[in-house]
Amino acid sequence: MSEQPLPGYEWTEKEWRNFCQWAQAKLGLSLGEYKEAQLQRRVHSFVRRHGLDDLATLRAFLGENPSGLSLFLHEVMIHVTSFFRDPKLWSAFASAISRHTPTGEIRAWDAGCGAGQETYSLAMLLALRFPHHLFRILATDIDPISLALAQAGAFPKKAVEMLPSRLITQFFVAKDDLWEITETLRRYVQFRQHDLLHQLPPSDTFDVVLCRNVLIYFSKNAQDRIVEHLSAAMAPDGLLFVGASEQLFSPERFALVPSGPFLYRKVSVPVYTH
Ligand SMILES: C[S@@+](CC[C@H](N)C(=O)[O-])C[C@H]1O[C@@H](n2cnc3c(N)ncnc32)[C@H](O)[C@@H]1O
Repeated sequence: MSEQPLPGYEWTEKEWRNFCQWAQAKLGLSLGEYKEAQLQRRVHSFVRRHGLDDLATLRAFLGENPSGLSLFLHEVMIHVTSFFRDPKLWSAFASAISRHTPTGEIRAWDAGCGAGQETYSLAMLLALRFPHHLFRILATDIDPISLALAQAGAFPKKAVEMLPSRLITQFFVAKDDLWEITETLRRYVQFRQHDLLHQLPPSDTFDVVLCRNVLIYFSKNAQDRIVEHLSAAMAPDGLLFVGASEQLFSPERFALVPSGPFLYRKVSVPVYTH
């Protein structure tokens, strides 16, 4: 391991490794399972932005300052999101769920939900497709600041006004310069902090699981382990919807079969490929 600082950074490879080990042991953060180059770049920007000198000062910042960790998670994670992100994929997803007639309450998990746009998109879709059914969405993310925004359910007008006006009329109320999600729709959703890398999936069984634009940030091994967890949390015949660049490799390893673009269905018997 070189003792020279990594090009463009204030730290050596050894210091970076030590920092990741410290974050795992003291903060329960599995930084070593993110794609390294991208994570280091974002940590570096965080260090600069907050006037910290190096990884030692970052440790102190995270260890001593209770809001430091929340800020770190919020600023280091990538948060690009929107309502019905990749609309064509949402149309295919809507058709896939409509092919099923639910027998009881529909349970959904939005894993890596961001600031709520994705979760409320799912809630709107389920409310429209299954008007006579109860449904429940558990929405989780590692980042508490995004979760607080999601819980507040109030979005800038610009983020909402790209939606068809009938959806705005039915599911939003105007408040000052924001659009707020109606109480009726919020009642279906529960937000909770959950780290996909570090925690087991929720103990519930889900008919629908969304994990979109999250897996891409993780190492190959971590991706496999998480897909295994997502699959374990799915009911037989349940549907998994992933992001537009997250095609699963050999999904049969996880008892999943392709079921449309970026969609996978859970099968209850092992799938043999030869
Ligand atoms: C690019 S956003 C995607 C948001 C939404 N799923 C979408 O596609 O619009 C990635 C999200 O993954 C979350 N995330 C990153 N690492 C995570 C982890 N270990 N466990 C849970 N969520 C994580 C981030 O906080 C962020 O909200």
